[in-house]
Amino acid sequence: MEQVNAPIGVFDSGYGGLTILKELESSLPNYDYLYLGDNARAPYGSRSFDTVYQYTLEAVKWLFEQGCPLVILACNTASAKALRNIQQKDLPGMEPYRRVLGVIRPTAEVAGNLTQSQHVGILGTTGTISSHSYMLEINKFFPSVKVTQEACPMWVPLVENNEYNKPGADYFVQQHIENLLQKDPDIDTLFLACTHYPLLLDKIRKYIPEGIRVFDQGKIVADSLMDYLARHPEMKNRLSANASRIFATTDHVAAFESQASAFYGKAINATRIDLV
Ligand code: DGL
Repeated sequence: MEQVNAPIGVFDSGYGGLTILKELESSLPNYDYLYLGDNARAPYGSRSFDTVYQYTLEAVKWLFEQGCPLVILACNTASAKALRNIQQKDLPGMEPYRRVLGVIRPTAEVAGNLTQSQHVGILGTTGTISSHSYMLEINKFFPSVKVTQEACPMWVPLVENNEYNKPGADYFVQQHIENLLQKDPDIDTLFLACTHYPLLLDKIRKYIPEGIRVFDQGKIVADSLMDYLARHPEMKNRLSANASRIFATTDHVAAFESQASAFYGKAINATRIDLV
């Protein structure tokens, strides 16, 4: 079969994955990227395992149909609840070169190198936190690191509804930071384990004591993808590289275009698509 080169697919429940795409683009600018936000069904954070799996699989299949050989789940909730199933149950029945990667493992692989106290904190959606994926993954690489987590169910709605820099957001940000640090006062490193949370970074910094470092995942995921492509020339050779970016959403195009720049840093044009 003739090989057709195609973009890297990047998926999120909504806008959050754009914070990852921004960093992918800055580290790997030449590749083509096709971004899909399932805004019509976001947020995923409080949905059941089965629902997140089904929605994510539909999105991955759509990106594969567009030709993408590689899809990045730029969503922690989807990475926590769907990635393993897709890799183990669905990919084996598809073309053998297709790959789906998530954002949890790249973060887990570096977490233990970034903490001095060996105490890290994870802030994420209810789905990500209840899956315990971060504890399991970090402890695989760094068994002596103590991982403490806090679910922040209001943070994605605050971000998606453009309330993240308004005074009402302070209440929810402060509450969850305090809860986390009460559970483990020795935390010196915090991970924003949700791709929407970088927009809350200014508020988060306001409530964490000096000496605690906060990391979002954009750069971590970009470094990991660079490393992956260096180790997998067969995948690298399937990717098209004309520096194009295409954006698709399952909901209103105008709303997507007006919100997207806050996450992505520049204006975009989007197309509406249906997943079912
Ligand atoms: N951006 C997604 C994540 O990283 C979650 C958003 C949602 O709840 O849909 O977890």
